[in-house]
Amino acid sequence: MKKICVIGTGYVGLVSGAGLADFGNEVICCDIDAGKIDQLNNGIMPIYEPGLKELVDRNIKGKRLKFTADVPNAILNSDVIFTAVGTPMGQDGEADLTAVEAVAKTVAQNLNGYKVICTKSTVPVGTGERIKRIITTFKNNGNEFDVVSNPEFLREGSAVGDFLIPDRVVFGVENARAEKVMRDVYRSLFLIETPMVVTNIATAELIKYASNAFLAVKISFINEMSNLADAAGADVHVIAKAMGLDGRISAKFLHPGPGYGGSCFPKDTQALAKTADNFSVNLEVVKAAIRANANQRESVLARIKSILPDLSGKRVAVLGLAFKPNTDDVRDTPAEHIIKGLIQAGASVVGYDPIAAENFKRYYLPDLEVKDSVWEAVENADLTVILTEWNELRGLSLPMLKEKMKQPNVVDARNILNIDELKLLGFTYRNMGRSKI
Ligand code: UGA
Repeated sequence: MKKICVIGTGYVGLVSGAGLADFGNEVICCDIDAGKIDQLNNGIMPIYEPGLKELVDRNIKGKRLKFTADVPNAILNSDVIFTAVGTPMGQDGEADLTAVEAVAKTVAQNLNGYKVICTKSTVPVGTGERIKRIITTFKNNGNEFDVVSNPEFLREGSAVGDFLIPDRVVFGVENARAEKVMRDVYRSLFLIETPMVVTNIATAELIKYASNAFLAVKISFINEMSNLADAAGADVHVIAKAMGLDGRISAKFLHPGPGYGGSCFPKDTQALAKTADNFSVNLEVVKAAIRANANQRESVLARIKSILPDLSGKRVAVLGLAFKPNTDDVRDTPAEHIIKGLIQAGASVVGYDPIAAENFKRYYLPDLEVKDSVWEAVENADLTVILTEWNELRGLSLPMLKEKMKQPNVVDARNILNIDELKLLGFTYRNMGRSKI
């Protein structure tokens, strides 16, 4: 059991902090945003993440989890400091390390004994070294410290389960002392034989980017295949299923859609390509995946226009504004590009999302008409487009949809609607790679 402080209470910091407390550690989560800390101290979660409130409540009750805006004091009272602050996309696609570097300085100024400083934020290779230099420069005593890289692999929407039962845990360490501390922190997982990859810091930093970039490549690959399947009269689902039966390929992450979004893949693929450029190494495959992803959003618009070539004055209902289901996150959501494209083409757009509608309006289009239910959104629509595979949309009643709409036109960009039923009801439809079957 360790005394831990987690700096940054965003998606990663909050889930990790509560999860580390659930492993039996004494955790204090801190953030410079005092408003967020007040919310947390009053039992209000600043983000929507299934299971998070229960996890937080359980550990507060067990007296293993606290929240504070007093970052220096939290550092002084901890053996291990986790950095989970944001690394947004900066200039030229590079990760912006301002927050990570500020944390390193604060740690240096409050180093009152040996501490392990562990980076959870997704940071480019070489950042561990940079943090070490900053702490060495700004600390004003002889206290020792070690820097560790411990990347996270949490998916939004299933982050709690991913943290508590991970596929693997990766530590990048420089010596046995730091490794022992990290093994203590994750002792609970060690006991259930979770695979642990212990390596050097640069390798751990790259593992995170390589994993995300590979998944992004996989998605872009199947997305392009879906476009070809549509053109050639093939069924991309059967292609993906047969491909996935090959153990070397695996069936996961072969679902075509409107392109990957979110706070990770778009930013991490750009950052990795840029890092490689800085090393004079060309990551052609990753760059192609980025281009294919941008094209995919356009290809959804093309499918819409193949049904309604002239969109001016047409009412289009967009169902799903979050970048994926079970999250209120709209960062880099395909809905942004597609809705703006529809508006530019003269359509009047009405949006619906069970959780993310307010966020979408706040960040992108404050005047967008959004409705509280699917049925209000599709009322009198000339076309409905599905952009997020929320469960309630998977079970959408197609007869009712037809009844509500002005014209029965559907673009199913997540391939969740029953094609036989669409045909039977006389819908004109497009999807991603199954339209001709
Ligand atoms: C991703 C990774 O999956 C996590 O392992 C990683 O920790 C996280 O980024 C991160 O770097 O923090 P996340 O962005 O939450 O997690 O979401 P994913 O479930 O991976 O989905 C990303 C995007 O890909 C979504 O837009 C989703 O709709 C799309 N996607 C995913 C597809 O279009 N097809 C698929 O087959 C899978």
